[in-house]
Amino acid sequence: MSSQIHGEKILILDFGSQYTQLIARRVRESHTYCEIHPYNMPVAEIEAFNPKGIVLSGGHQSVYDENSRVVAPLVFELGVPVLGICYGMHLLTRHFGGEVEASATREYGHAKIHKLAKASSLFDALLPDGSDGSVWMSHGDHVTTPPQGFSIVAESQNGIVAGLEDPGRGVYAVQFHPEVNHTQNGDAFIDTFINKVCGCHGLWTSSGFVEYEIAHAKEQVGDDRVLLGLSGGVDSSVVAALLHRAIGEQLTCVFVDNGLLRLNEGDEVMATFAEHMGVKVIRVDAQDMFLSRLAGVTDPEKKRKIIGHTFIEVFEAEAKKITGVKWLAQGTIYPDVIESAGAKSGMATNIKSHHNVGGLPEHMGLKLLEPLRELFKDEVRNVGLELGLPRRMVFRHPFPGPGLGVRILGEVKKEYADFLRRADAIYIDELYDSGHYEKTAQAFTVFLPVKSVGVMGDGRSYDYVVALRAVETKDYMTATAYPMPHELLSKIANRIINEVKGINRVTYDITSKPPGTIEWE
Ligand code: XMP
Repeated sequence: MSSQIHGEKILILDFGSQYTQLIARRVRESHTYCEIHPYNMPVAEIEAFNPKGIVLSGGHQSVYDENSRVVAPLVFELGVPVLGICYGMHLLTRHFGGEVEASATREYGHAKIHKLAKASSLFDALLPDGSDGSVWMSHGDHVTTPPQGFSIVAESQNGIVAGLEDPGRGVYAVQFHPEVNHTQNGDAFIDTFINKVCGCHGLWTSSGFVEYEIAHAKEQVGDDRVLLGLSGGVDSSVVAALLHRAIGEQLTCVFVDNGLLRLNEGDEVMATFAEHMGVKVIRVDAQDMFLSRLAGVTDPEKKRKIIGHTFIEVFEAEAKKITGVKWLAQGTIYPDVIESAGAKSGMATNIKSHHNVGGLPEHMGLKLLEPLRELFKDEVRNVGLELGLPRRMVFRHPFPGPGLGVRILGEVKKEYADFLRRADAIYIDELYDSGHYEKTAQAFTVFLPVKSVGVMGDGRSYDYVVALRAVETKDYMTATAYPMPHELLSKIANRIINEVKGINRVTYDITSKPPGTIEWE
């Protein structure tokens, strides 16, 4: 199905850089659709993709390595602009007959560059007014002689060629990484490449996506019925809202209450989807089943497995009761697609260590419907807002599949889950009220099943401990503790101790990842 929003596409050929996903995100921020493909994408597929422009990513190799990665020469003959970043720069320099020098020392981190005296529509966006700029470098090799017809547009402090161009041929190259936040005006540079150099028109928008995906889902599904596991998280919520618009009554959602949800979560999901939007949602109360299977189990991995398997069992049993279902909808998003493609092609730089529990088995015999497969998380959120979902739902922090099961250390008991739910609700409310919620990537409370002594009024208390955690992170692979204001922490601790009987001590976790993880189990 062709559509206006996919009418202009940028192709990103991946040489294994850790930043390739960031290139794609920057292109999407410029409102143009793009896809990442391996550097050795077959020629016929490149032609069929019909890109408006091509970006060659960086990569950890040197162009002098044995079996170094190369692209099909066709890439330079399509008549569309090409931007080479880092390794991509070295590759195209050699392709056009220039020289690259291998260097034993790697230039890594911030570097200063300046423009040489020459107007350049692309580099003017990076270095306006001929000023110096700060960029992010990460490579050993560099260009020593540009190919004929190319001019050097920018240079680093140490005299390294930082930017090259041959506007006549439509080929541009940079030694640094414009896609990384540390590069000043890097976003403007990419935006200029996409919209001025490649001539794209900003066709990729949330409203366009919603319109397209509604028509697309209708066409895919026809009169069939579709099943969706609704968790209350952002991705499945957006899928529910989108499919409800597309196919209405043909969609049935199953929401499993495993006893490990946050305070009032089940009621809120039902209020938003069933009552407010009229989505068909079956709420399954499986709390006793989950909690009884978890009784006496303390090992974190065992707990995860029990929760995952029980979820599948409950979900499948519910699915069997609904007749005529042919499709299973899932909230798969573009980073998941890239990661599994990366794992297959051996460019495994970005493989995540966690996969959602709730990954349902193939033997259900249902066809997969994944309407968010093309979107990054921030795009999913924009689509959620476009569909009218509440902001609080759309900007909710990630919540792990095993829920409070991994936030109650050791054995899970209903009593502990109740303490934790109430303490966490106070913490999160205070973060919202003080404007800190959206500044943190993830914030939650952990229940510690140990008792400590305190004084309450005239008496002595001997009660449980909770730890508050809040982290800043972009990719959840590394994280730092959020510098929460002390007064706010004191206020939250007082409220928890006063309002949640059974808890008499609150601590704040200041561990980074690594060496810690974000969750405690
Ligand atoms: P860690 O604790 O490994 O967490 O630093 C990184 C991110 O993954 C989430 N997480 C999980 N998500 N199932 C999930 O769906 C899990 O078993 C799981 N464990 C951790 C965690 O909340 C954080 O966002």
